[in-house]
Amino acid sequence: MTYNEIRKAFLDYFESHGHKIVPSASLIPNDPTLLFTVAGMVPWKGILQGTEPAFAPRVADVQKCIRAGGKHNDLEDVGFDGRHHTFFEMMGNWSFGDYFKEGAIEMSWELLTRVFGLDPNRIVVTTHYSDEEAIKIWKKVAGKDAILLGDKDNWWSAGDTGPCGPCTEMHYDMGEHLPGGMPGTPNEDGGRWVEIWNDVFMQYDRDANGNLTPLPKQNVDTGAGLERFASIMQGKTDNYDTDLFVNLKRAVSDITGVAETDENVASFKVITDHLRSVGFAIADGVIPANTDRGYVIRRILRRAMRHGQILGHRGALLSKLYPALITEMGDAYPELAREQERVVEIIQNEENAFTDMLQNGMKLLENEIPKLNNAVLPGDVAFKLFDTYGFPLDLTQMILRDRNIDVDVPGFEKAMAEQKERSRANTKGTRIFWESQTELANTDDSAKYNPTDMKSKVLSILKNGEFVQSANAGDEVEIALDKTVFYGTQGGQVGDSGELKINGNTVMNVTEAARVDNVVIHKGTLVGTISVGDTVEPIINAAIRQQTARAHTATHLLQAALRHVLNEDVEQRGSKVSPDSVRFDFRFGRAMTPEEKQAVEDLVNKWIAEDMTVTHEEMTLDAAKEKGAMALFGEKYGDMVKVITAGDVSCELCGGTHIHHTGEIIKARINKEKSISSGIRRITMSVGTLAE
Ligand code: ALA
Repeated sequence: MTYNEIRKAFLDYFESHGHKIVPSASLIPNDPTLLFTVAGMVPWKGILQGTEPAFAPRVADVQKCIRAGGKHNDLEDVGFDGRHHTFFEMMGNWSFGDYFKEGAIEMSWELLTRVFGLDPNRIVVTTHYSDEEAIKIWKKVAGKDAILLGDKDNWWSAGDTGPCGPCTEMHYDMGEHLPGGMPGTPNEDGGRWVEIWNDVFMQYDRDANGNLTPLPKQNVDTGAGLERFASIMQGKTDNYDTDLFVNLKRAVSDITGVAETDENVASFKVITDHLRSVGFAIADGVIPANTDRGYVIRRILRRAMRHGQILGHRGALLSKLYPALITEMGDAYPELAREQERVVEIIQNEENAFTDMLQNGMKLLENEIPKLNNAVLPGDVAFKLFDTYGFPLDLTQMILRDRNIDVDVPGFEKAMAEQKERSRANTKGTRIFWESQTELANTDDSAKYNPTDMKSKVLSILKNGEFVQSANAGDEVEIALDKTVFYGTQGGQVGDSGELKINGNTVMNVTEAARVDNVVIHKGTLVGTISVGDTVEPIINAAIRQQTARAHTATHLLQAALRHVLNEDVEQRGSKVSPDSVRFDFRFGRAMTPEEKQAVEDLVNKWIAEDMTVTHEEMTLDAAKEKGAMALFGEKYGDMVKVITAGDVSCELCGGTHIHHTGEIIKARINKEKSISSGIRRITMSVGTLAE
């Protein structure tokens, strides 16, 4: 059976047993305690906990999951065996207060042995030692004596708090020719016995102190990894030898021109796995960044590129492989093709930025290795690799592992802490330095709304609190140019990120363009040398700009919807528009009801669906007033202003960047509405694929 056939057989079985079949939820959970959706139960956490009503008593789905960078983290293991993945699909069935242990075990057993036709004698089951009920049911349903294990193996929770309970696992014997012991024995991971399914009996809610409270309803949460199922159904001992991975590995061969061998297979595994996590995560709206889930994805992408380099490949890799991912998985997950253009662009931007850094960082490392007098790389060198060349610590460790060299991790952490302290001291003060530069000319940023190719002159370079004539790779700097295409942070909109290039080569990764009065300050890290007077090409990250533009227009629609649903007096008090979220503060005397929140969200989404034209016009302040444009209370405006109009629902004075049709926003979702001070409320909202 292929992946597509297994997914279908699983869902068909549960549909015929009264389950509602639903599509996979996003990899970005609506849950601040988790970086990613780590299991099929994550979207249903509220229902399992009893804080949200169940929409059906029985549900089944195949859920996209990522286990990297949090409590459930398999990143470092990928490549070294045939079982680990950062991205995987979890098939699951749920009972929300409907059937419990007996129903769950009966259906698992029937599906495994009758539908999938697995040999009952090759299946062993484990249960929590305290779960007498499950032990009895296994005896009755399958004639099995369960192996009794403790909390480590047979107690399940998604995070440190939340719904949890005992579980029962089914393991399959891949054959006696393989090494490895039974579940619960010291060499259980040897490869012979493979866990194929876990039925969790959600009975308790665990609070932050570890106290267990029985849940109002008893629920069932099950999870079966599709990749392992496929390996069993296809008689493979390595998940990476199943149809989907064989095809993806072939695409890696096609692009790198290297055939898979026993020696390089780890790189093939890493690249195909990482293609899935990076591709799916970005399709769901994750943007590679220096923090949180964006950082995890950046790390994974860089690891994949390093393995491309091991295969002798240079430059873009995952962006070229993405079409193969669509071929393999696009039918089951239509978002892959729908988001193709955006995903490929974001991956390409990342790959371009990292290509040079990878080569230069490897050079530094090759120079350092002969100098080591024991097999430990000093922490400050590992930190320099991280800070200057973007090598996450685990990438450096991975490269050195092959040569039996360790990294001084405490030394790395110390260097990191010192750097944080320095930059804290710096950021506090930088505005003062710029303001003291009285000679500085205003930046001509008139091209910011329609970025074009441009050549600019470097006017000033600020480094460690001093204006310098020149700075080098690794330096954190702030740079002012005579003209730029970057939008510098203002009016609540976060500034652009991107690059400065000299003759087509990146010299600086700009993490944010800020603004001090009328001067745009490009902040970031140099990857080459730059001097006052140099001619540079400022280039923004267009994909991130587009996300920010979506968020900004969505903010205008939000304000219009609030005035519609609540009343005309709703008045904006501040906002922050970032590429991945919106924060909107407004004056209103009480909490919104759930119905009002829903009505506002529905109205915004209705306007998005209507795909109204968004016009961007420049006019005099008087003309804008005449047109009825809304202005921010207490703001000062110049004589000429920009007016952004969305259909006939919103017309605002605004200097930000916007999209041209409301449909580009895709979707908006209100996450929270709360009080921030007396009479002032704050709404946080996700837009684009992040809201789906
Ligand atoms: N939530 C359970 C797991 O992930 C089914 O194993």
